[in-house]
Amino acid sequence: MKDQAQTLRRIVNGGDKSPQVISVTSGKGGVGKTTVVTNMAIILASLGKKVLVFDADLGLANIDVMLGLTPRFNIKHVLEGQCRLEDVILEGPLGIKIIPASSGVQELAELSHEQQLTIVNTLDYFDDELDYMLLDTGAGISRNVMYFNTAAQRIVVVVTPEPTSITDAYALIKVLRTKHGIKRFDLIINNVLSAGEGNEVAKKLMMVCDRFLGDVALDMLGSLPHDSSIPECIRAQKAFVGVKPAGEAARRLTGIVKRLEQAAPVHSSGNIQFFFKRLLLTQGKVMNHAGHSVSGSY
Ligand SMILES: Nc1ncnc2c1ncn2[C@@H]1O[C@H](COP(=O)(O)OP(=O)(O)OP(=O)(O)O)[C@@H](O)[C@H]1O
Ligand SMILES: [Mg+2]
Repeated sequence: MKDQAQTLRRIVNGGDKSPQVISVTSGKGGVGKTTVVTNMAIILASLGKKVLVFDADLGLANIDVMLGLTPRFNIKHVLEGQCRLEDVILEGPLGIKIIPASSGVQELAELSHEQQLTIVNTLDYFDDELDYMLLDTGAGISRNVMYFNTAAQRIVVVVTPEPTSITDAYALIKVLRTKHGIKRFDLIINNVLSAGEGNEVAKKLMMVCDRFLGDVALDMLGSLPHDSSIPECIRAQKAFVGVKPAGEAARRLTGIVKRLEQAAPVHSSGNIQFFFKRLLLTQGKVMNHAGHSVSGSY
């Protein structure tokens, strides 16, 4: 049995390893976040990376469904003491680990102190090291979406060429900039008819951010083509990069993943424990209490 004090100390100190925590988010729903996260995870795993996907989206098309997996437990069961975090984690293709969505996810933002410690105490599970943690957030500017985005080291905004998707992406970036001080974002333009169209959309969003928000940097990671086989893959509960690895969408997403890999994390510090620390222990009183617990009852 591992020493919980050691775990908590590591959490409080920020830990010594630094996998990247990347959220994939959007202003408008249905633009392809879950598709991007699922396939990105598989590409990263095929490059030999250890990946954990945290499905923080309560929408209908969840990652476990996309991959044909059936969760037995969810975060709520952990909070109720019915199982440990590792019992919730599903194993996907190529060893990808998945924390499936559940109603418990929404409540992570409002956990009692006792519940926060329940989650924190399960973090030994992550000792076996991860290179990436991908968060599939819901769409929009709800508290839950902001909560996960602000805990991530990089924020990838998925946008499609639809005008409403662009304006909603701007609204999301604006809230993250003005209310949470986040200045850098990565962009993936999905469902484009040509790479040129993708670049145009990115340019439009950059212009409007430049004009109204000033010091916001948007990095264009690339675009993904509209491909009618993608919804077919989802219906078949398979990742498109597995079904058509040589297709244009898979090639473009591989390029995007490689660009993400080359880029330094936006927020320099952080690891999985650090992520959970930020996620769960951000309220001042809880943080102090947890700090106190390190030298006290732990
Ligand atoms: N490049 C693409 N070409 C064609 N269809 C696509 C493409 N990307 C996504 N889709 C389709 O769009 C639909 C929505 O995708 P997805 O569920 O990934 O979006 P989402 O942003 O996660 O949605 P939500 O906001 O509801 O969680 C799916 O049916 C998917 O197959
Ligand atoms: Mg989704």
